[in-house]
Amino acid sequence: MKLENNTVLITGGSSGIGLELAKVLVAKNNKVLICGRNLEKLTQAKAQIPEIEFFQCDISKPDESEKLAKWVKDTYPACNNLINNAAIVNKIDFFDDKKSIELAEIEYETNLLAPIRLIKLLYPTLKTHNSSVIINITTGLIYAPRVIYPFYNSSKSALHSFTQTLRIRLKNEKTEVFEVMFPAVDTPWHQGKPPKIAISTQSAVSEMIKGLEKGKPEIRVRGAKILYKVSRLAPGFALKKINSLE
Ligand SMILES: NC(=O)c1ccc[n+]([C@@H]2O[C@H](COP(=O)([O-])OP(=O)(O)OC[C@H]3O[C@@H](n4cnc5c(N)ncnc54)[C@H](OP(=O)(O)O)[C@@H]3O)[C@@H](O)[C@H]2O)c1
Repeated sequence: MKLENNTVLITGGSSGIGLELAKVLVAKNNKVLICGRNLEKLTQAKAQIPEIEFFQCDISKPDESEKLAKWVKDTYPACNNLINNAAIVNKIDFFDDKKSIELAEIEYETNLLAPIRLIKLLYPTLKTHNSSVIINITTGLIYAPRVIYPFYNSSKSALHSFTQTLRIRLKNEKTEVFEVMFPAVDTPWHQGKPPKIAISTQSAVSEMIKGLEKGKPEIRVRGAKILYKVSRLAPGFALKKINSLE
């Protein structure tokens, strides 16, 4: 994949992995567009990286994803890369949490349906360019799910499956499809308590960029690669091990 001189929409580029990615891509002479729900986080991101542009929206709401896509199409028709990075996680007990179904709906809307919707809305713009790319961000947990994240694992597993079929559907077209599976990364996602095994955003993004440069369609970063291999060799052990982590 060519990593310079693109126009890239990163959903959720106002913190964590998305923000680091925005920094790295701006340094490589790309025009970077980000979005998020919280205006203060978006303004802070712009203060850190003045070259970026932002759009405030909640992609879990279909009409707001439509407004985001319209903004991109009307204002940045050069957009040739879409990175579906924004996501949420709810750490809950499925039966004890009174709001579990409500939380499931928001989590599936954000992590699964919004990326699918944005791909459908933006593909007509992406495909007008000589080279274009769709990158979906998932997790090593697609290979061995954790009981504490009942909807996160399954929303990302479904996105993984959708990404595989999207790649086959587009195999004769100019748009390339990538998926990046991250391990635990030290970002605001962990609300100040990252697991001991978490890697830095810099390492995570640097490995993602290396994988993209090599043109690997599925980029499994560090722990995600180990979990992938262990889950193939000993699925029961992988499931037990991942669920014994703090
Ligand atoms: N951190 C990890 O350990 C880890 C591990 C594996 C995979 N990942 C994946 O990496 C990606 C980025 O995670 P991160 O750790 O960087 O998380 P993060 O720091 O919490 O960033 C999430 C970003 O998404 C935005 N966002 C969330 N919900 C949104 C919505 N409904 N509409 C628009 N924007 C929304 C957030 O902004 P607002 O809050 O302002 O909306 C923020 O900019 C996610 O796909 C996650 O699944 C993370």
